Amino acid sequence: MHLTSEEEKMLAGEEGYGVQKNMQILTALGEIFGAEKMIPVTSVQVAGVSYYNLGDAGLEYLDTLANKGARARVNTTLNPAGMDLENWRELGIDEDFARKQELVISAFVKMGVTPSCTCTPYLVGNEPRRGDHIAWSESSAVTYANSVLGAMTNREGGPSALAAAVTGRTPCYGMHIEKNRKPQVHVKIDTKLTTVPDYGALGYAVGKKIGPKIPILDGIEAAQVEQLKSLCASIATYGGTALFHTDGTASRENEKPAETLTITRADIQGALRALNDEAAQVDFVALGCPHCTLDEIKTIATLVEGKKVTREFWICTARQTMKEAEEMGYAQKIRTAGAKFACDTCMAVAPLKGRFSVLATDSAKACYYGRGTNDFKTRIGSVEECVNAAVTGNWSWCEAERYPADEPKDQRWSHMNLSPSLEALTRTRE
Ligand code: F3S
Repeated sequence: MHLTSEEEKMLAGEEGYGVQKNMQILTALGEIFGAEKMIPVTSVQVAGVSYYNLGDAGLEYLDTLANKGARARVNTTLNPAGMDLENWRELGIDEDFARKQELVISAFVKMGVTPSCTCTPYLVGNEPRRGDHIAWSESSAVTYANSVLGAMTNREGGPSALAAAVTGRTPCYGMHIEKNRKPQVHVKIDTKLTTVPDYGALGYAVGKKIGPKIPILDGIEAAQVEQLKSLCASIATYGGTALFHTDGTASRENEKPAETLTITRADIQGALRALNDEAAQVDFVALGCPHCTLDEIKTIATLVEGKKVTREFWICTARQTMKEAEEMGYAQKIRTAGAKFACDTCMAVAPLKGRFSVLATDSAKACYYGRGTNDFKTRIGSVEECVNAAVTGNWSWCEAERYPADEPKDQRWSHMNLSPSLEALTRTRE
C-alpha cells in the first residue's frame, strides 16, 4: 500500500506511540483488504463504548492510547455507552459497573472524542455531506450514512474507527470506491409501508433474502427519518449490507441489476410474526433503537399524557435530543407518567441480562439484541402498542395477525409525528 511521507512518519513513530499504534492497525487492515492507499476522513463515529462489551481488557487498551498521546484529528463521536452517564442509578446500574464505564468515557474524552454516546450521530451534529469519506462503526448509522446521507464509509470496528480518528485517515477499499457501491438486486416493494415496525420488518425480510448484497429499494421514496433509521438498523442487522439505493435518489444514474426480488405484504407480516414471541405479558418496554428523534419523543409524550406506566419503560435517545425534549415540555410529560429516559445508552448495550424477560419495542433490531444478548422474549409493535403495554403490562395480540393486508393503515397512525421524508431530505441535500 502506498503511504505518503506524512503517513510513513506516523508509522515510524515520529508522532508518538498513540499515533504509531493506530497507523499500524490501519495499514494491517489495508493490506488485508487490498487497499492501494489511505484517504483522509472528515468524520468518525466509534462503537465499542459500553464497558459491558469492552471489559477490563478494552478499558486498558483505551487508557494506554489516551496516556500515550493518541488524539482525534477530526470530528469524532461515540456510540451508546452501557449506562446513562448522569442517571445510571435510576436505571438500576450498579456502582462498580458505573465506575468502570466512567473510566472508559474519560479515556475517550482525553483523546479528544465527543462523548455524544448515540447511534444517531446524524441527528446531533455529526452529519457528513454527500460524497464525504468517513469512518463510522455503528452498523445502523453506517447504512444511514451511505444510503440516506450519501457519504462513504465501511462498517468499521471500534478500534479501526478510533484509529481513523487519531490518524485522520482510513484505508481506501470497499465502500470508499464508487464501483463497489453499485446495486446488485432490484427490490420492488409491492405493499404499503406505514409504521416504524413495518420498515423494520422490511429490513428483516430483505436482509434475510439477499444477505450483504446491495439492493435498490424501489418504493420507499416517501419514507421518513424515523422509518429510515429503523430500516437501516434492521437491514444491516439481518442481512449485513452497509448500503442500499432508492429508486428515486442515489441509484438514478445506475443501471437496474438483473437480479430482482418482490416484497409483498405477506413478507412484512411474516417478518413481524418472526419477531414476535409468544408472551401475553411484558415486563420491559424500550423505544429508541436507533435512538429516538425529537418527533418520536413528542409522539410518546402525547400517548402517555395523563397515564401511569406499570412496567419499566425506557426511551433511549441522545442526551442532546432529551434536552430539546425538555425545552419543548415533552420530557416532563414522559417522566410524570413514570417512564424513564435512557440517554447515552440503550437496551442492547446496558447490562440488563436477568433483569427482565419480555421486551416490547417498535424496533426489529432491538428484537435481535434483546433475544441474542439478553435472552428476552420479544414483542414488536407500533409506538402506540408499546405505550399500551407499558401502561397495562399486556400484549395480547400480534400486529401481523391483527391487521390484514387490505386494511388501510394511514388513519390508524394519524397522530404519529414524523420527521422529513427521504425525498425531502434528498432535495435539501442536493
Ligand atoms: Fe442504537 Fe442500541 Fe439500537 S446502539 S441501533 S439503540 S442496539
